[in-house]
Amino acid sequence: MCDDELIPPQADMTEQDWLRTGSETTAGGPPMRTTGRVPQFVNRRTLLGGAMAGAALAVLPSQTQAPASAASRPGAPGAFPFPEHPNGNGEFSVLITGDAGTGDEAQYAVAAAARDLCRAEGIGLAVGLGDNIYENGPESDDDSEFQDKFEKPNNGIDVPWLMVLGNHDCSGLIPGSGGDPSRGDREVAYAKTSKRWYMPSRYYSVPLPAADPLVEFFAIDTIPWSSYVAQLDPYYRWDGPYMREQRSWLDGALKASRARWKVVIGHHPYLNNGKHGSAGSYDGFEIGNYTSGIHLKEMYEQVVCGRADLILSGHDHTLQILEPTARTGGTRQVVCGASAKTEDGKAHFNHPAAWQNFSDNGFMVLKVSGARLTIEAYTVDVATRKATLRHRTRQTAPVAAARSYA
Ligand SMILES: [Fe+2]
Repeated sequence: MCDDELIPPQADMTEQDWLRTGSETTAGGPPMRTTGRVPQFVNRRTLLGGAMAGAALAVLPSQTQAPASAASRPGAPGAFPFPEHPNGNGEFSVLITGDAGTGDEAQYAVAAAARDLCRAEGIGLAVGLGDNIYENGPESDDDSEFQDKFEKPNNGIDVPWLMVLGNHDCSGLIPGSGGDPSRGDREVAYAKTSKRWYMPSRYYSVPLPAADPLVEFFAIDTIPWSSYVAQLDPYYRWDGPYMREQRSWLDGALKASRARWKVVIGHHPYLNNGKHGSAGSYDGFEIGNYTSGIHLKEMYEQVVCGRADLILSGHDHTLQILEPTARTGGTRQVVCGASAKTEDGKAHFNHPAAWQNFSDNGFMVLKVSGARLTIEAYTVDVATRKATLRHRTRQTAPVAAARSYA
């Protein structure tokens, strides 16, 4: 199933309602209520096929304990260490990938091209921006999909990977719905046994280097704020304890950070020129507490904009380096979700962009020094497994330098 088939007919349906509505529509029932947009076609046969395949394991969400934030590497045996010093160029270099977990040839090609670059440029850290395990997320803490869709493709990129949860990682009855956030706990559990996969909790921060941080990464879970379906478990409601605690944690962590540069990493973007659109109006929905991403928009604007230098996101299978603007408080949105899938080749919105690409696979590299942040965008030719540098953007003044905190 591709994301085109995940658009629900109306905002904030439950998964059961969604499936029932599809059945009634197919049977010639009454027209569905829309939300001011033209609903995209939902391939019900594919939808139901995927739902049936996952139904035995992915039913209603279950209650879990609030995760603890973490700032250091827990004890995964033989885990690749975080870099403590800049590379030979005086920088901390970070590979950025997103929406990579297909196990298909394109993922292998992008990873192979990135592996060559990692070795040549002394890259010491990597980021996976969610949708790590297509289509349904892992079925257990040691699902073989962790090997097939992460470890094997990324073999040789022997660095810690900062992983965040995507909507597919938290599938409920419908693959990609984000309807079962508790499924993401399996990805947290997997981190305890992987040398690469770093996810000590569902949201966390990593300062680099730990002793005297130059840059700090803040990994967040955007799913319950932007799932395609309403959350049934009160714990994961948009205004429930989990999201309140995460928001409070992020606010405090950004405030407390001593790092010169601050980078928020989360699956869903704040701004996006690709087909899914921006938070608050995802996929054309402008009502409801979930599908539109309205509460993620509020969180980005109230907690992140003007305080972090970058928001790195996936979800849209494109490569975009957007420009900081007054709206973003000087924060730059980057979308890097083309590490296994591609999109429809065209921009759907016109947020100012330094560079963007809507048709190629690829990845990015973030280079951090005291003097500057540099973002390099690469496209990858899948047939040859070769990367081409397409664009380089630099910024020299941290956003936080222009803002005083109350
Ligand atoms: Fe996604």
